[in-house]
Amino acid sequence: MRWWDLEQVIAIEIQVFGPTAWSPESFWGELARADRYYVVADDGVVQAYGGLWIAAPDADVQTIAVAPGAQGRGLGRRVLDHLLEHARQDGCRRIQLEVRADNDAAIRLYENAGFGRVRVRQRYYPDLSDALVMGLDL
Ligand SMILES: CC(C)(COP(=O)(O)OP(=O)(O)OC[C@H]1O[C@@H](n2cnc3c(N)ncnc32)[C@H](O)[C@@H]1OP(=O)(O)O)[C@@H](O)C(=O)NCCC(=O)NCCS
Repeated sequence: MRWWDLEQVIAIEIQVFGPTAWSPESFWGELARADRYYVVADDGVVQAYGGLWIAAPDADVQTIAVAPGAQGRGLGRRVLDHLLEHARQDGCRRIQLEVRADNDAAIRLYENAGFGRVRVRQRYYPDLSDALVMGLDL
């Protein structure tokens, strides 16, 4: 992900996350940090993106999203697999993430990739919904 991708990334972000979408400033801030790694999948137009926070031997999946019209075709899994491989190559041995406890599609995606359920963080999000912490040994 480069700064010139941000207009399309943010358009997808608003479509998929609505009121909890990250602001443009949040994305600029993430791209500026050396301990972050963000990618886009594009076919001329951005279709999906995801990012990592790398603090070897630990890593966090910061976000992953697929444009509504491109969901359900394996793109989310491809972006996730790419992030996992990058974390491994950067010396990470453990990766974690937080996902809304009611986000069945995302939880299935992570479970299919081998993530296990670690714990629930109650009232974690601004709307007070719970987060499920998931983790995977790399
Ligand atoms: C979650 C998300 C990233 C998955 O990406 P995707 O490209 O649609 O998913 P894929 O086609 O790669 O499917 C991967 C797995 O996810 C699961 N999945 C995807 N869509 C699903 C749905 N609507 N319902 C249930 N499971 C679903 C499936 O288990 C699938 O595995 P399978 O092929 O064995 O059935 C995507 O739906 C998305 O962007 N959602 C909105 C943003 C979001 O919630 N991001 C995660 C925040 S933590």
